[in-house]
Amino acid sequence: MQQKPTLPGTTDRRIASLLTLLAENATIIISGERIAREIGVSRTTVWRLVQRLRELGVRVKGQTATGYFLEKVPDIITPDLLRKRVKGKLFGKRFLHFFKTDSTNRVALELAFAGEEEGAVVLAEEQTAGRGRAGRKWHSEVGSGIYVTVLLRPRLSPVQAPLLTILAGLSLHAAILAQTGLNTELKWPNDILIGGKKLGGILTEMHAEPTQVRFVIVGIGVNVNQEKFPPELSSIATSLRKESGNFHSRLELLVRLLREFESDYNRFLREGPAYVVERFGEVSQFASGKRVHVDTGRETYVGTTAGLTTDGLLRVKKEDGQVITIIAGDVKEVR
Ligand code: BTN
Repeated sequence: MQQKPTLPGTTDRRIASLLTLLAENATIIISGERIAREIGVSRTTVWRLVQRLRELGVRVKGQTATGYFLEKVPDIITPDLLRKRVKGKLFGKRFLHFFKTDSTNRVALELAFAGEEEGAVVLAEEQTAGRGRAGRKWHSEVGSGIYVTVLLRPRLSPVQAPLLTILAGLSLHAAILAQTGLNTELKWPNDILIGGKKLGGILTEMHAEPTQVRFVIVGIGVNVNQEKFPPELSSIATSLRKESGNFHSRLELLVRLLREFESDYNRFLREGPAYVVERFGEVSQFASGKRVHVDTGRETYVGTTAGLTTDGLLRVKKEDGQVITIIAGDVKEVR
């Protein structure tokens, strides 16, 4: 089989295999010889790869003569572990993992322009320039959150692309509920909140002809195990750990998210926008009847949400009775 090119900076396949092997045999000492055989490298290379893992903060105990074991299984989302759990037709073929990158959206865009197939999943343990909506930065602390971008090539008109942001939010809502029992709030167009604080966000970027989408990348950030946020975020951000008091496996959550998203995406393509619009209406407390303050960048006003259009845009009824469709803007609840 022809090997697909990897991008500079992606996790060395051998490091990923070593980590998977150690993680799957967490309490057992594995000889350097067995590791060398199983991942297909020399014993000297095993030693070098172990040093590299230690530099990345993974607690590997032991030495070449005695063998190696993991002191603590790290919550690293290795592509090997993910590949074993996500076997969908869409997501499951291609995972690109980075210990550190600037932005998984930036990487996915590069791949998409280079002709990468639909379904590629780009993930990182840390982002140095995570992108948020409206040019904001997405705080991406190492190993604490999920930072993932998926590449889609749907046969849609560009005006329907916002529905994919909403769909990803619905999939994330379902994945979090199934794993933690926490009922998140979905705020149009891309916020996942708990108690009004930001738990996750979605940034969709698109390349399109006038009538046809070429590709869409859907970037999803979720605060999972952060115990603290920088002072400027502490009053507006939260994590699953802060809300539940428990540690949560990022791998498990990502597996659920990708499975949910694949099934939701297929349903949307089969059934059309109504599936997304109706589900958003059922799940989001913001979809209708919520008094909101809207800032479109050009004007601000107060009104009441009145559901989504078939293209996933928010309708707001102003106080004078006029109904406005919002294409882009900040919507905040008026308390
Ligand atoms: C928002 O502002 O709410 C959107 C945040 C989106 C963050 C995610 S993290 C993974 C992906 N890569 C990025 O650079 N941004 C998105």
